[in-house]
Amino acid sequence: CGIVGYIGKRDVAPLLLEGLQRLEYRGYDSAGVAITGKTGELRTVKAKGRVRELESRIPKRFSGTTGIAHTRWATHGAPSDVNAHPHLDGEGKVAVVHNGIIDNASELRTRLSAEGIVFASETDTEVLVHLIARSAAETLEKKVSEALRSVEGTYGIAVLHQDFPGRIVVARNGSPVVLGIGEKEMFVASDVAALVAHTRQVVTLGDGEMATLKADDFRTYTTEGSQTTATPTTVEWEAESYDMGGHDTYMHKEIFEQAEAVDRVLRGRIDDRFATVHLGGLNLDAREARSVRRIKILGCGTSYHAGQIGAGLIEELARIPADAEPASEFRYRNPVVDPDTLYVAVSQSGETYDVLAAVQELKRKGARVLGVVNVVGSAIAREADGGTYVHAGPEVCVVSTKCFTNTVVAFALLALHLGRVRDLSVTDGKRIIEGLRRLPAQIEEILKTEPEIKQLAKAYADARSMLFIGRVRGYPVAREASLKLKEVSYIHAEAYPASELKHGPLALIDPSMPTVAIVPDDDLLEKNRAALEEIKARSGRILAVAHQEQEKADHTIVVPKNEDELDPILMGIPLQLFAYHTALALGRDIDKPRNLAKSVTVE
Ligand code: G6P
Repeated sequence: CGIVGYIGKRDVAPLLLEGLQRLEYRGYDSAGVAITGKTGELRTVKAKGRVRELESRIPKRFSGTTGIAHTRWATHGAPSDVNAHPHLDGEGKVAVVHNGIIDNASELRTRLSAEGIVFASETDTEVLVHLIARSAAETLEKKVSEALRSVEGTYGIAVLHQDFPGRIVVARNGSPVVLGIGEKEMFVASDVAALVAHTRQVVTLGDGEMATLKADDFRTYTTEGSQTTATPTTVEWEAESYDMGGHDTYMHKEIFEQAEAVDRVLRGRIDDRFATVHLGGLNLDAREARSVRRIKILGCGTSYHAGQIGAGLIEELARIPADAEPASEFRYRNPVVDPDTLYVAVSQSGETYDVLAAVQELKRKGARVLGVVNVVGSAIAREADGGTYVHAGPEVCVVSTKCFTNTVVAFALLALHLGRVRDLSVTDGKRIIEGLRRLPAQIEEILKTEPEIKQLAKAYADARSMLFIGRVRGYPVAREASLKLKEVSYIHAEAYPASELKHGPLALIDPSMPTVAIVPDDDLLEKNRAALEEIKARSGRILAVAHQEQEKADHTIVVPKNEDELDPILMGIPLQLFAYHTALALGRDIDKPRNLAKSVTVE
């Protein structure tokens, strides 16, 4: 979901709508705005559907200079006009927009109903509105903090109150809230994307923090009311980096930004003389790096897959046992937290709740946690003991492409760093560095094959299901490629280790079930070829991604060869384009696949 708010001199409705448009990728089944009108009364408009729908419902005279707005991704209550935010109290004096989930909502609802409060929606958010409205505290700040004390769960909220004009009160626990500091105007949003067109001076609220925004001033404090210090920082990303830049979709734009993005993550971090890497933010000296006995990587979705490739790189280059696990699983299985293990949390947004909760649990148990994160100043980046930013630039499309690639490259740097303080030789270090430097040009080369991949995508778009296989280094590549295809095209896809084919999935192979095979030119080439034979013998269609034409495959996408260890970084890229063009051929909503959101800040 997304939140935007503004207080200043400008007409607020168009500003809020523009902000919502920039946040639509976070969730988009309904949207709404609340403003303080010219005569001080609160006015709201809500609509099921996209922001466009909301825009068409805004009446001609809907002016004011203070307002809050929301795009919603349903958790409690189906998408509908009533369930859309902002929610109001019975008198229509208090308006609240909320991201997150109130866990004890049904309990509070029963209590409030018993007191005679009538609920208008099925949402968990509405309890907050009534709690604020019925609070006897004198100030809006106190009313909000009193309400929040009864609430369990996660929230990023913004509140308007008719009786307290000229201010917006916001609070955060688990769901991002960023203040944008302007000249005699203030903004608030759940994501800098909605702010950067107006200001690049931002303050990110921490958990348990609240803020009051007035047109010419803001202050931050804890829910208990004690003042906190908030120094604005400058967002490094320009407003233009959020535009589509001549592409038809963000996904296409972001796929094509990868060469430049990889160049950025490498820049200034390599010392050629000693074949070493500077990752200043790790906060891990050489002695500590040497004493790490295991590495456990945690992430969700595409970031988890990037972590799997990362684990492989760490094992190969640093010879430290490493594995990746979905953060969502890890946090619920009462994990054994080991003092000699280094934990690494991976997240594009830095806000995925399952990852954040895993980090918090680890920290409670005294573990050392690093973050590999894209969004600077995000919750996971703040919570971790150190880490590295992946510098992919803003990623808007719900499905991740360039950030995946940059995250894997960041892991290669981390692996190289750990390797070089342990047993990786200078020669091997130099070999990997040269390989990393070749990546941007090789990515450009792959992207030039788009017309060919587009044809292939059309040829396979009629499949109802596809199998993706790879072995060792190729397996996480297959997993990510299969996820990409299913997310964006809705074709069922399943990834399997090529070595496990004969233990089950071979039963599925027939002419209607194509296989995409990752076949690098490494020491497992012959083994992979044998798997292709097995599939061909059952009349399966094969699309191979390989370093040379594969005789058994119906089609081969040939990609440039790098060092064996780094091949996984390149081999998935043509399959991003494959997923893209398959989705395009099927007429899918590429940047906003159904039922998905970019950043999942709820459990
Ligand atoms: C959501 C998105 C995925 C993403 C995952 C993790 O499920 O739809 O594309 O990979 O969250 O997001 P993160 O921001 O933590 O990398």
